[in-house]
Amino acid sequence: MSTTKQQPMYATTDSTSEAQQAPRPHDAYRAVREQTVALCAPLEREDFVVQSMPDASPAKWHLAHTTWFFERFVLREAFPELAPYDERYDYIFNSYYDSVGARHARAERGLLTRPTVDEILGYRRCVDERMCGLLDSAAVDAVLLTRIELGVHHEQQHQELLLTDIKHAFSLNPLEPAYARATPHCVASVAPLAWHRFGEGLHEIGAAPGAFCFDNETPRHRVHVHSFALAHRLVTNGEFLEFIRDCGYDRPGHWLADGWALLGTVEARKGDVQEATRAFCRAKELGSAAAAANCPE
Ligand SMILES: [Fe+2]
Repeated sequence: MSTTKQQPMYATTDSTSEAQQAPRPHDAYRAVREQTVALCAPLEREDFVVQSMPDASPAKWHLAHTTWFFERFVLREAFPELAPYDERYDYIFNSYYDSVGARHARAERGLLTRPTVDEILGYRRCVDERMCGLLDSAAVDAVLLTRIELGVHHEQQHQELLLTDIKHAFSLNPLEPAYARATPHCVASVAPLAWHRFGEGLHEIGAAPGAFCFDNETPRHRVHVHSFALAHRLVTNGEFLEFIRDCGYDRPGHWLADGWALLGTVEARKGDVQEATRAFCRAKELGSAAAAANCPE
């Protein structure tokens, strides 16, 4: 992973007054690190270890890998004499950084019952203590701040992955565990669906100068966009159910080729219909049939 930097996210000693209003590096780092741990609060110990498919990673691997990033690419760069927290972590918590060396197979991360969750949380605390010490010291320079900023964004990416991966694991469990229980947002009525139409033309896409971005978000460039339309509101569960009952899954005209191919499997169709029906029934339990028919989720 690499980044294009136009302007540091963090204030430095010679920053402008505007930049000085940005969160202190210490605060920004601490906030993201604490948020990752907070996202794991609903998990049981068993949940931290499971890997539901080769493209997913266990929650505890995300906790450790994001920590390893800061240890390997910030602390050990800032303090070359610093001994690794555990030299084996370069192998098991490296994702795809070839320059670091060989790495454990991605599809086998779920086999890593050790280190334990407690050991990984201890690893996080140790690295956090050292990182905060570094951020408050004169040893941190612009190069390290840029790398720390990258690490913070990298950890936010893994927060999304952590949630996606655990929700996928839960989706495969017949007991239907939930990451969080929430009451569906039901409304008594919704406006008829309307469309906002946009004409064709040239538009700029890509990161604008002046803010953090990853290298695949640049260069900013122009593209020709064909005319399109967007609905003015979300589709409701009731409308999904109406689509299913109207044989929408049987009409190829509603689908692009990949979607239609996916529907070719009986299991996929069955799963979609069951999920839509379950959502409808859950909504119905919470209120009137009219409310259920208009319950966006
Ligand atoms: Fe990563």
